[in-house]
Amino acid sequence: MQYNVIVQNADEIKTGALAVFYFQGQDSLSGKLEAIDLKLGGIIKQLIGVGEIKGKAGEVTVIHSGSKVKPQRIVVCGLGKKDLFKPDAIRQAAGSACKNLLKKNINEISFLLPEKGMTGLDEELAAQLLVEGAGLGAWSFKKYFTSPDNGSGIDVINLVATDGQQERIKTGVEKGRIITEAANLAREMSNEPANYMKPSDMARIAEQVAEEGNLEIEILDQLMMKELGMRSVLAVAQGSSNLPNFIIMKYNGLPGEDIDLALVGKAVTFDSGGISIKPSEKMEAMKMDMSGGAAVIAAMKAIAALKPALNVVALVAAVENLPSGTAQRPGDVVKAMNGKTIEVISTDAEGRMTLADVLTYAGNMGAKRIVDVATLTGACVIALGEVATGMFSNNQELADMVKEAGEEAGEYMWQMPMYDEYKEQYKSDVADFKNVGGRDGGAITAALFLGEFAGTVPWVHLDVAGTAMIGKDRKYWSKGGTGVPARTLINLVLALAEK
Ligand code: BES
Ligand code: ZN
Ligand code: ZN
Repeated sequence: MQYNVIVQNADEIKTGALAVFYFQGQDSLSGKLEAIDLKLGGIIKQLIGVGEIKGKAGEVTVIHSGSKVKPQRIVVCGLGKKDLFKPDAIRQAAGSACKNLLKKNINEISFLLPEKGMTGLDEELAAQLLVEGAGLGAWSFKKYFTSPDNGSGIDVINLVATDGQQERIKTGVEKGRIITEAANLAREMSNEPANYMKPSDMARIAEQVAEEGNLEIEILDQLMMKELGMRSVLAVAQGSSNLPNFIIMKYNGLPGEDIDLALVGKAVTFDSGGISIKPSEKMEAMKMDMSGGAAVIAAMKAIAALKPALNVVALVAAVENLPSGTAQRPGDVVKAMNGKTIEVISTDAEGRMTLADVLTYAGNMGAKRIVDVATLTGACVIALGEVATGMFSNNQELADMVKEAGEEAGEYMWQMPMYDEYKEQYKSDVADFKNVGGRDGGAITAALFLGEFAGTVPWVHLDVAGTAMIGKDRKYWSKGGTGVPARTLINLVLALAEK
């Protein structure tokens, strides 16, 4: 995707589509839009008058200009009600415009950047939000179609700026581009079928990201993981002939100082359930069970490009969970890296087993804070659906920062309780813990189980089982991977660097 900032009279831009923003119930058109409407003979005002353009959030009205102005189409994008305005409305409006034009096979679009007087947002931030919304909305996963009938996609996005503001707007565009490309990388990885996204493929992508961004990287193989004592990860991996990899990426923005943040991502490249096999209906969706790891690797791509002044590591143990003659069994007892023993009740509760050792590893590295991201439980999907990510924490200050970073990103985080009383549910008769705490409060007991391995390090767990992949289009996302919470993680890192 190419993003350009142009300074030109809007009615003179040679473009397939000129997108403009409009608030619900807005009584007059902005100066630039008013000028275009005059040349169009007042059609926009007429459409508003008869209620065909309402300005509702997500509403997109495409008007053919009939060569009265240079843009071939004027696309009016609703921002919703002004008194309910949130910055994410710009992303949503820009995303909806792109999704709409994608269907019409238009591959270039120009946006009239809303001025501060309209939204209250300075133009640099508005440009960033617009690029994020457009870049996310224009993205689709088409690589496995072999017929050109599936459309070519949008490849140029122009922002029309007011003279004198280009430089600041370019800064916003660049930040938006970096963040969007990271989120779209996470989406691409989530959408990839498991035969193209094996543990070794995740390692290869992490290596590319590290090379492009000058990050330190280590890829550990099964033997090295064994030497480290990562028995809980390896117990999950042992059923598959696609061998595990432990990916360690390091961003050093403050060389010689402590690790400010460890990002830990669940990366089960396919979760069949193992011997506790899942029903075959919808099992194909479990190719996305590596989305936490994808979001973490993708966030590192943006962090490397944005260069904040702090130290961040990404830790991703990539494994495949399959049943076989070498697979772990229900009833097995596994001694995790920190010495605690786990009774395997269900081999389908594999995510927490892989994360257990990685959280231990993060603590041993001396990370000052840990955020883990995991498609961990179906129970979280039942509780919060596809809209909000389940958030759990042992540290309110960090949880508040993550929540705030999520709000900014339009990726909602909803905190759930972690009362000690729930711990009863995963007490085992034969080991320190069982890997399952029963159906009641399933997302909470899974989080508490992880907490046993995070120890006293300030830690947030994000259960993205419902939000990393969605069943139908919403906001600027299309069905499939959303990249959640890559943009939240990037915002969090930037906020920590400012602290
Ligand atoms: N990967 C699944 C969780 C999941 C479910 C992610 C639906 C996305 C959508 C996880 O490994 C799993 O199977 N969890 C079990 C745990 C149970 C056996 C305690 C679950 O949620 O049913
Ligand atoms: Zn599972
Ligand atoms: Zn899983």
